[in-house]
Amino acid sequence: IFFRDQTLTEEQHMAFGQRFGTLNVHPRYVSLADNPEVFQIRKDPGSSKVVGGIWHQDLTHLPEPPLGSILYALETPPVGGDTLFANQYMAYESLSDGMKQMLAGLRAVHDNRIQSPKIAQAKNADMTTKLRDDADEAEEPESVHPVVLTRPETGLKALYVNSGRSHRFADMTEEESRPLLDYLIEHSHKPEFTCRFRWRDGSVAFWDNRCLLHRALNDYPNHKRYMNRVTVNGARPV
Ligand code: SIN
Repeated sequence: IFFRDQTLTEEQHMAFGQRFGTLNVHPRYVSLADNPEVFQIRKDPGSSKVVGGIWHQDLTHLPEPPLGSILYALETPPVGGDTLFANQYMAYESLSDGMKQMLAGLRAVHDNRIQSPKIAQAKNADMTTKLRDDADEAEEPESVHPVVLTRPETGLKALYVNSGRSHRFADMTEEESRPLLDYLIEHSHKPEFTCRFRWRDGSVAFWDNRCLLHRALNDYPNHKRYMNRVTVNGARPV
């Protein structure tokens, strides 16, 4: 859901999120001292990396990954910096019956190695938003989630794997899992499942993390892009 021309203080942004659940404090990105539930996604001219530049769902290594995120644009580049979304109901529905049968009951292990302290040290020099490089890896769980989740409210099924955090199927090695996982990950963001949001200052996007992948584009090297995100906690996928 997209809204234009909003003016939100951090408190109003958090209050909007709290209408849908409790708020997440990002386990790896350095948060605001006053309002740690507000995750600042900032890119200054000259920094080469963006937050969320690959197709992903947020924080799927958690046992109860977020229900969704609310991103608010404070300052946007004159062109570029769009966000892409991919519909995972469509990704699931377009699979063959044989593939759907094979995926029923399959589970994937999700971890947060893409934000490990070692990766953080390598990325931080080129990124305005900083990852914690002192984080204790043991602090963060690995979680096992169904490869196809079912929304209890509607019975709709969505594909639920992503390249950043799903590296193997449960009870299989990474080598064994790779071919099918790679197929599913490539399939999940075919252009026909996607839409693209063009931001303006004051735009708000609220996405459902359980049935969408998203990806931030990195195509505005000489401009700044400042966003605030509030992330609403969710439930264990079934
Ligand atoms: C993210 O939340 O992954 C970043 C999205 C964006 O900055 O467009």
